[in-house]
Amino acid sequence: MTRYFTPALAHLEPYTPGEQPKIQDLIKLNTNENPYPPAPGVAAAVADAAGALRRYSDLNCTALKEALAARCGVGPQNILCGNGSDENLMLAIRAFCDAHRPLAFADVTYGFYPVWCELFGIPRHVLPLGEDFSLDPAAYCGLGETVVIANPNAPTGRWLPPSALEPVLQTNPDTVLIVDEAYIDFCDAPPAQASCVPLTKRYPNLLVVQTFSKSRSMAGARLGFCVGDAALIADLERVKYSMNPYNVNSLTQAAGVAALADGGYFAKTTAAVRETRARTAAMLEALGFTVLPSQANFLFAKTPKMGGGELYEALRARRILVRHFDAPRTRDWLRITVGTPEEMRSLEAALRAILA
Ligand SMILES: Cc1ncc(COP(=O)(O)O)c(C=O)c1O
Repeated sequence: MTRYFTPALAHLEPYTPGEQPKIQDLIKLNTNENPYPPAPGVAAAVADAAGALRRYSDLNCTALKEALAARCGVGPQNILCGNGSDENLMLAIRAFCDAHRPLAFADVTYGFYPVWCELFGIPRHVLPLGEDFSLDPAAYCGLGETVVIANPNAPTGRWLPPSALEPVLQTNPDTVLIVDEAYIDFCDAPPAQASCVPLTKRYPNLLVVQTFSKSRSMAGARLGFCVGDAALIADLERVKYSMNPYNVNSLTQAAGVAALADGGYFAKTTAAVRETRARTAAMLEALGFTVLPSQANFLFAKTPKMGGGELYEALRARRILVRHFDAPRTRDWLRITVGTPEEMRSLEAALRAILA
């Protein structure tokens, strides 16, 4: 840190993203990327959009918002597009929290929430999950604080039906509930039942955040969107236009529209991930692992035979990269992204060899 760096941020601990190493033949199961490529039409749409790169991108993401609105059953005025969910979550936290309105979230959840609190000087209210990493919505009722809940949660994969979160909305009418649905498309239930999006029509204090990074195989394109009451979205636009108006580049906007146009590919690849998830969970349980029930594209698992850190290293030595969170409640566990069936067979072979 130089002497030029503001003392106000002296204690800022940046978020630690999952490793992106350049190791040959690596089986990469550490950042919940999709094992399948984006929809076949995406590459052509990007190549086409490249012809107009000298122009600034559409500030409003008009075509993308219309496609998203049609898919979500809302109007374009209910949608905000951003540079990944990370940007949308950051905008929401900037817009709906302050020194007197803390952000409440679980002790084991997405690691970026506390970083934004620190960056913006927002007090945090950390609520412990249950022994089995379950979230009790009652703990968030009547708090009078802005709340963010990842559903399904990361790194646990646990999911709550939207009806379980309604009391949080009803008992906190003066603050916003942000539901981070980065993994929602991997739920077994269809989107209309799994997602809180339909509730945005009834609750003006609900913001749902989703991403193209996971279920649409577009992590590198950086595209996310939020759904909420038009007035809530207007608040976010206000902050967006105060920070980075052209936040979604034109290649990404074109890629997003093309991805949404291919519903068949989306259905096929998300179903494949769900099927591989079920098989992998059964495989891990057969090897003696405890596996949390997951509705995401990853599994959170631990074995009594070896500590999480040790197993992480043993897998890494075999060119299989998973995620280990070295914190008191998570250090026995590994978060394993669901890959292709072939990758999961390699994982099984490695685990059998290591634990033999
Ligand atoms: C719970 C959760 N929210 C948000 C994100 C960020 O996603 P994006 O790539 O859309 O910024 C992640 C990424 O892993 C995540 O796990």
